[in-house]
Order: sequence, then C-alpha cells, then structure tokens
Amino acid sequence: MAIQYFSDERIFHLQSKATSYVIQLLPTGVPAHVYWGRKIRSTGLSSILQRTERCSFSPAPYPEDMSISYDTIAQEYPVYGVGDFRHPAYQIQAENGTTASEALYDKHRIYRGKPALEGLPATYTEHEEEADTLEIELLDPVAGLRIILSYTVFNELNAITRSVRFVNEGSQSLRLLRGLSMSVDFRDSNYDMLHLSGSWARERYVERRALASGMQGIESRRGASSHAQNPFIALLSKGADEDHGEVYGVSLVYSGGFSAQVEVEPYKTTRLSIGINPFDFNWLLEQGQAFQTPEAVLVFSVDGIGSMSRTYHKLYRTRLSRGTHRDRTRPVLVNNWEATYFNFTADKIEDIARAGSELGLELFVLDDGWFGHRNDDRSSLGDWFVDANKLPEGLDDLAKRVNGLGLQFGLWFEPEMISPDSELYTRHPDWCLHVPDRRRTEGRMQLVLDFSREDVCQAIGDRIADVLRSAPISYVKWDMNRNMTEIGSALLPPERQRETAHRYMLGLYGVLERITSEFPDVLFESCSGGGGRFDPGMLYYMPQTWTSDNTDAISRLKIQYGTSIVYPLSSMGSHVSAVPNHQVHRNTSLELRGHIAMSGNFGYELDLTKFTEEEKETVKAQVALYKELRPLVQFGEQYRLLSPFEGNETAWLIAAEDKSEAVVVYARTLAEPNDSLYYLRLKGLDPEADYEWLEGGVVYGGDHLMFAGLPLPNLHGDFQSVLWRFRRV
Ligand code: DGJ
Repeated sequence: MAIQYFSDERIFHLQSKATSYVIQLLPTGVPAHVYWGRKIRSTGLSSILQRTERCSFSPAPYPEDMSISYDTIAQEYPVYGVGDFRHPAYQIQAENGTTASEALYDKHRIYRGKPALEGLPATYTEHEEEADTLEIELLDPVAGLRIILSYTVFNELNAITRSVRFVNEGSQSLRLLRGLSMSVDFRDSNYDMLHLSGSWARERYVERRALASGMQGIESRRGASSHAQNPFIALLSKGADEDHGEVYGVSLVYSGGFSAQVEVEPYKTTRLSIGINPFDFNWLLEQGQAFQTPEAVLVFSVDGIGSMSRTYHKLYRTRLSRGTHRDRTRPVLVNNWEATYFNFTADKIEDIARAGSELGLELFVLDDGWFGHRNDDRSSLGDWFVDANKLPEGLDDLAKRVNGLGLQFGLWFEPEMISPDSELYTRHPDWCLHVPDRRRTEGRMQLVLDFSREDVCQAIGDRIADVLRSAPISYVKWDMNRNMTEIGSALLPPERQRETAHRYMLGLYGVLERITSEFPDVLFESCSGGGGRFDPGMLYYMPQTWTSDNTDAISRLKIQYGTSIVYPLSSMGSHVSAVPNHQVHRNTSLELRGHIAMSGNFGYELDLTKFTEEEKETVKAQVALYKELRPLVQFGEQYRLLSPFEGNETAWLIAAEDKSEAVVVYARTLAEPNDSLYYLRLKGLDPEADYEWLEGGVVYGGDHLMFAGLPLPNLHGDFQSVLWRFRRV
C-alpha cells in the first residue's frame, strides 16, 4: 500500500514513486499538514510537526494545550472562524446565519484503486494496483456537516489527487459559501509562483513571480476556465528551473470559474489552494444532500519544471483522457475555417478535400456555417439543421463525397450557444442564461444556453446525436465562443441562483458523457475560440483541444510552449495556416509553419487548392514526415530546451519513452548579426547510446548531444527553424 496509517501518532503517510505527503491529526481532531515533497522514511514522522509557540494574537482553542493554534499550525483543510485567520478551504453558513465551523476527525478508510467522482471528470485507474486511496472523514457536530477528504496516490507517478465531499447530516439546511478542492500550507515563503495567463489568441503565456506577503493568485469569473487564466498554479523553490529544483504543481480538473490562491501570512508561511471560485458561488445543502468538489491534481518534482510537466503529460494522456482515440494516433486534417470562413459550397468543400487527398491528408473538417442560415456569426446557433442553400444534397451526401476521396469527415458544432436570431430562440426564449428584467448581454452576437437545465441538455444532446447519426461523421469540433453574463436560470429558485454556473458545468459534463459514450468511435476535439477552455476537465471527455485561434507559427512558439507546462502534445491541435497570417499578419515560410505545427496534432487550416506546384511538394513531404513522426510526437516525452519567454530562440525535444528515437525542433525568431557559433544541448537521450542524425547521416553519442551539444547550422534571416531526427544505432 502506498498509504500507511500510524495509529499511535495518528499520522497518514502517502508515498508515490518519489514523493511523500504526510498528514497528522492534532489532539483536537483537526488534520494538520506535516509534509509534501521528496520521499522520506516513515520512521519518526511525528517529530516533523513542530507546533510553534503560540504567538501573542494566536487564539488557543484548547486552553489545556496552549501549543495548539490553528493560526500557526500548518493545516490540511483549513476551517473558518475558530482561530485560523488565513483564507479557509471551506466556509458554511448555518440557518442562524453564522459561519464558524470546526471539522474534527471521525474515521478514515484506505483502499486500492480510485473511485470515480459523481458527475465530474477525474483521473482514473485501469487496474486497482495503480493507485491507493485514503478517505479521511471529518465531522462538524454543531453544523451536522460531514467532510470527506479524498486522496489518491498514483504509485508510479509523483502525482496525488485530492477532492472533497460535503454531506449535510444534520437537522438544518446549510449553505456552502466556499468549498475548495485542496489547500496545503508550506513552512516558508521562499518560492516563486508560476502560472499560465493570457488572452484570446495569446493563451497560456508562462508567468513567474516571487511571492510577496498577502494574497496573490489567479482566478476566472467567466464561467469557463478561460483564455485569461488556466486552472493551474505551481510553487517553485528559489532558483528552480527546467531541470533543477523543487516544484509543486496544482492543476484543477474543472472547466468553469476557478480560483488558485497563494497566501503568505503572517509568519511567512504559505497557503496554496485551488478550487471552484467562491466568488458568486453558493450552494444550498438541504438535509441529506451532498456536494462534490472537482479534483485537484498535485504533482511534485525535485528535478524542476520539466519533470513536473512530464508527469502531468503522462497522467493526463493515459489516465485522464479516455476512449477509443486515447492511444490511437490522430489523423492529419484539413479544416476549412481560415480557407472559406462562412462562404462555401459543397463543391468548394469537395475541391479542398480532393486537394487534401492528393497531399496525403486523412480528415476533412467542415467548420462553422453549415446550418440554419448562418452566413456570418450573427445567427442560427441552436438550429442544428443543414443549410440547404450551401449543402443542397445534405450532410450525408457531402460526407460521402469526402469519404470517396479517401478522407474521413468531421463537423463543427457550438452546442452550448443560442443566437437570438434562431428558430430555437423564438421557441424557447427562456432557455438561455438570463436574469429577469435585465438586458441579455450578447457576446459574438450570441447568448449562452442554460445547461443547468435538464430539459435544455436533453434537447441539445438529442439534436447533436441526430446529426451525428445522419451522416458518416468521424470527428467533432466542439466549440464555445463566449463567456457567461447575467448568470441566472429560469428554473432555479432564488436561494439556488448562485448555483447556476456550477450546475451549468455539471449539465455540460452530463451531455459530454452522453455524446462521447453514444459515439465512441468519433474523435472529439474541444475548442473555445481556440484555447479558452483548454483544461483537464475537457480533456477527460475529448482527448484533444484546439490550442489557439492564433495560427501564426511565431506566436505559436509561446502558446505551445506555455501549454506544454501542463498539457501533453497529444492534446494540442496545431495547424499550418496561410500567410500573411490572419491573426497577426506575419509572413513566415511554409517550412517553419510545418515544423511548429508538427509538435502536436498536425493539420492545415487554409485553402489547399491555392498551393503552387512547389508548395504542394513541400506539403506532401511535410505530411509524409509527420506520419512517420506521429507516434513519437503524440506518445513521446517532451523536453523543453530553450524558452521563447527568455530569448530569441525556442527549442524542444520529443523522445520515445525507451529513448530509441527523438525529434528536435528549433526556431529562431529574429536574425542576429554576427551570431556566435552555437550548440544546442539536448536532453532526454541515453548518454550511453549512439544516435544517427537521420537527415545528415552523422552518428553522435547521446552524451555528446546532451553535454557538448548539437551544432546549429548557420541560419539566415528572421523566422528560421530546423527539425532534426535521431535514431539510436
Ligand atoms: C472559433 C474557433 O476557435 C475557430 O477555429 C472557428 O471554429 C470559429 N470559432 C468558428 O466560428
């Protein structure tokens, strides 16, 4: 068992491959956080928790033991109102209006495997030996509230998951004002905070800053995990970098509004927490009712950020993503969005697919504009019926024409939205999120369907299922193009209105569960104006995500590099698009665009019929190369070499798990006059092995490549790139 309980000292010791996590029950019954970090032995654990002298303003809940103060002792799931003045992990309001709560140990359970979370996405095991689970049950006897803290340790990874379940076992109604998924107290504050922030078309830029006293953190109040912030935060020991130093990552398996906070207070200790954003959240727990928080995934690395990323990659690729396509290589696709936007006919689509077939592509994706009367983005969301003006013979006919050219057929939907100009809105004006008597604020001329309602979820799910049954559709792009405003539901009573945003997520997850189970062979890709919902919650249902609407290869260096801090390459859609690029108007070579897009699920997002003969030859070679590289890119291990956030160059390496082969991608943004002769040090190879550089026929020692470095060729001009392949000889 990876989890031990020492009853004399009342200590739980959780041990994954190289990590220890220790909890001790205080004499009061409140669980204290003792340790999280490098693996340690089980002997003498009780001496770690040094209860400090009580400070002068620190309350003492138990006068008989003045060494206990929740204000100074590291907490495991901090309570509110009884002496800890930092931000609590949960807060309830009793019927009498008061909010203090103290939850004390009642019992615990340790068992093999990992249970599913009711209604929520979560990591899983395929065999119960892969993980062990601990449940610590706490009880607030005054409120009648049971709190079940769940921990799962993945034995072969340095990953521990946490989630919490609240059950009202008392005789009164309770309001859950805050219910985070995890909280951990660190003994000092000598850390940097790392997070992934940005905006539409500039998602997941890496930001790092030193901790300061007080609150700092990131959050989303948008009803989606969002382009602006990703539900991930890490604490880095001072000086930690890609390959060295202690790194503590926390990632939330949730797609809605979240909060990830770091509090340095008041004795220079640090509290790190993540969960559903308490802002505008409130959940009524009637007698007997329960509330389940999303799962937080904690990854510790002693070897820097890169090792943390590889743990997340493996866990999320193999034990979060699910379904038929999880372990299958993904098709090389062409998507017509940037080729035609809304302006296409069946014949035009067939022409693009024909060109794709000649170039070796495998999947054609018909994007927005095939339904209702959608000739621009002002109408028809919700009317999932084919537009007979554009596709007179229907979807089935078009899909079969595409299939006849040797390509699979994929289709775009935006199921969670409704256009005011739609038949659906005329019939059901109350089906969108709205607040009575207030304006319904539009975003991209559309409103958000109220997925907190079962009838809405059922009707939309039925409609999507009908379309998927109506034609040979092998792939779905599930888009979502605005954030929530006027978050209210026509069906919820006043006291439950602030549950709407989370109920929406539960409704969405329910529809995704239904559709992905009914159509197990369809490959689903999630999208939210690019990467506005690139989060672990969506990856549970859909193994890949459209990384960004920004398809410019130079912009993609930062976007894909930042995304790789948490998410595996198999989850990233990356396509070659036309130049000048439609988002940033930059010109780059087809070679560079190919090199960058090949580090992900590769495809093209342009009008293939417009290629010159020379370009066609280049693209044929790119597609053929990617097909060879594909298993390595999609299932290999990524090592970041040079960061676009730190300089003019970007590089990463993808190695097979057994180190038998590797591909290296290097890009230089701007030309530098008189640049020094330069060597790129590789990582992740076997130092004892020799590797042949396939393009050059030269054999290098793995140690030479890693410690002396790979000589870079002389590059001329801006926006240059090189791709090398190595195979062990
Ligand atoms: C936003 C997506 O990210 C794009 O790729 C495209 O599908 C458009 N929506 C269509 O409206």
